[in-house]
This record gives sequence, C-alpha cells and structure tokens, in this order.
Amino acid sequence: MRNSLVCLSGFLSLEIQVFQVPEVHATPNSDAILPCTYSISGAEEVTVGSYKWYRHLVKKELEVSNSSKDFTGRISRLNTDQFINNRSAQITIHNVIPSDTATYYCEVTLVHGGEITGHGTGTLLNVTDVLELPSQNKTLYISILASVSGVIIVGLLMLGCYRISKQGDYCQHDKCCVQRTG
Ligand SMILES: *[C@@H]1O[C@H](CO)[C@@H](O)[C@H](O)[C@H]1NC(C)=O
Ligand SMILES: *[C@@H]1O[C@H](CO)[C@@H](O)[C@H](O)[C@H]1NC(C)=O
Ligand SMILES: *[C@@H]1O[C@H](CO)[C@@H](O)[C@H](O)[C@H]1NC(C)=O
Repeated sequence: MRNSLVCLSGFLSLEIQVFQVPEVHATPNSDAILPCTYSISGAEEVTVGSYKWYRHLVKKELEVSNSSKDFTGRISRLNTDQFINNRSAQITIHNVIPSDTATYYCEVTLVHGGEITGHGTGTLLNVTDVLELPSQNKTLYISILASVSGVIIVGLLMLGCYRISKQGDYCQHDKCCVQRTG
C-alpha cells in the first residue's frame, strides 16, 4: 500500500504547463494558426504523448479534428517529431468561417510512468471581416505616400535647379550656380 503511494507521488512530480496565445484574428476563408507550446518539469525527457484541441472546454463537446463534422478536412497538425522535440502542439484551421469564432483549448497528454494531462487557458479565435482596420491602414498609406512623394518632388526640384544652373541659364542666385568651365 505504502509503496504504491510513493510510486504515485513519483508520477505526480511530472508537471506540464501549456501555453496558448489569448487571441487570434483571422479573416473569412483564410487559414488560422492556433499556437500552443508546453514545458515539462520533473522529468528529463518524455518521448510519448499526444495533443488534442477542443472548442470550448466545459463540455469538451467538440474535438477539433478532421473527423468532427464542423472541421472535416480543415485541420492540419504537427507531426510527432515537432510535438515531442519542439514542444509545439499547434493546429491550423483552414478556410475559417465566421461561425468558427470561439475559444479553443489545447490539451497535451504525456506518458511518463503514468499519463499526465495539461491544458492551456484558451485562445479566442475571432473570424471577422476586419472593416475598420483597412481604413486606418489607408490613412497610414496615404500619409506615407504623401511624405514619400513630397521627398521625391523636392528632390526633382533640386535636381532641376542643378541642371538649370549647370547650363548657366536662368541662374539668379549664386547658390544655385555651379562654376562655369572655360
Ligand atoms: C485533414 O484533411 C486535410 C484535407 O484532406 C489534409 O490535408 C490534412 O492533412 C488532414 N489532417 C490530418 C491531421 O489528418
Ligand atoms: C520550433 O519552434 C520554433 C519556435 O516556436 C519555431 O520557430 C521553429 O520553426 C520550430 N521548428 C520546427 C522544426 O517546427
Ligand atoms: C472580433 O473582432 C472584432 C473586430 O476587432 C470585434 O469587433 C469583435 O468584438 C470581436 N469578437 C469577439 C467575440 O471578441
């Protein structure tokens, strides 16, 4: 009895922490990457495990995989090598639609003596046509365009002045003139 308790506490010393980003924005029909990484403590190396994603955590009602009806054929996962060696459990949801908007939970299970499972704090995937951001960007582009063309116009004017002064015509200010040869 005592032995098995000691053994059990040995299992429990392995701890997983799972990290997710709080929010991912995606526009409809794009591919949304949901990053997830984990760290372990209490074990040198764990080489067996797997990961799953759920939409909502409370009921675990929907596993996010190719075989669930809402996501058929739309899920890419990392291979085992990337999962074990790179400690990444990310998925990509392809061709997202507005109704994919939800909180997604990454769950990592590792086998080390016993099985131990940890999950992240959830990622809100927000699938929206971002209508307000482009207008902000447009303003930014316009101001960049304006300053760039301003620089170009000033440059052209200076070049023009230089050319004119080189020809020696229309030369009104000393500053604008270059020394005439011969
Ligand atoms: C899910 O299906 C898509 C399309 O058939 C495929 O490209 C992808 O590799 C599949 N994902 C998994 C985890 O099997
Ligand atoms: C491993 O993870 C890092 C950072 O998360 C990433 O930049 C790198 O591309 C990953 N390598 C592979 C082979 O997936
Ligand atoms: C999704 O993003 C849009 C635009 O940023 C925002 O208006 C909306 O409230 C977000 N939806 C959720 C569920 O957070």
